[in-house]
Amino acid sequence: MLLQAAARSPDHGKLEPWRFIVLERAACLRLADLTATRGAEAEMEPEKIEKSRRSFADAHLVVAVIAAPVASEKVPEVEQVLSAGAVCLALVNAGLASGWGANWLSGWMAMDRGFLAGGLDLAPHEFVAGFIHLGREGAIPPERPRPDLSRISTWVSE
Ligand SMILES: Cc1cc2nc3c(=O)[nH]c(=O)nc-3n(C[C@H](O)[C@H](O)[C@H](O)COP(=O)(O)O)c2cc1C
Repeated sequence: MLLQAAARSPDHGKLEPWRFIVLERAACLRLADLTATRGAEAEMEPEKIEKSRRSFADAHLVVAVIAAPVASEKVPEVEQVLSAGAVCLALVNAGLASGWGANWLSGWMAMDRGFLAGGLDLAPHEFVAGFIHLGREGAIPPERPRPDLSRISTWVSE
């Protein structure tokens, strides 16, 4: 149901330039190991590797929203990527509205071709728009400053 809600996102030209990879617990653990391997290969700081590794090791369900832009004369690629972002937010909101905890994460793994090809079998033109973590909400995250609407909004009346 959550995937259905997310897939009901605006999509100019009905190109469906995105898809889902639903990562269950064993897959999350496999990706945690791959994160550690790739981080070590790239000689990253151990703390950075561990923070990223734990994002998968602690997870029981993650939906990787894959942006898969389609060649189109009518719909520019940026619109297709925006659509993938809309899918991510729709999935977060559907999860929250259904009583789950939900968060949209990325991390360096979302940009690492070795991780994407080896861990998720992505084609070279595909990338991760978001790892959407879903699960029971534990501690409620602290609120953080929100945008000042008067600073970012312009009202045009004539
Ligand atoms: C594309 C994208 C990637 C994100 N990646 C991360 C991330 O890797 N780590 C993180 O802590 N927050 C990340 N965020 C921010 C979280 O989704 C979220 O906004 C933040 O945890 C605060 O939650 P709140 O906005 O519900 O208060 C990302 C957001 C977007 C749009």
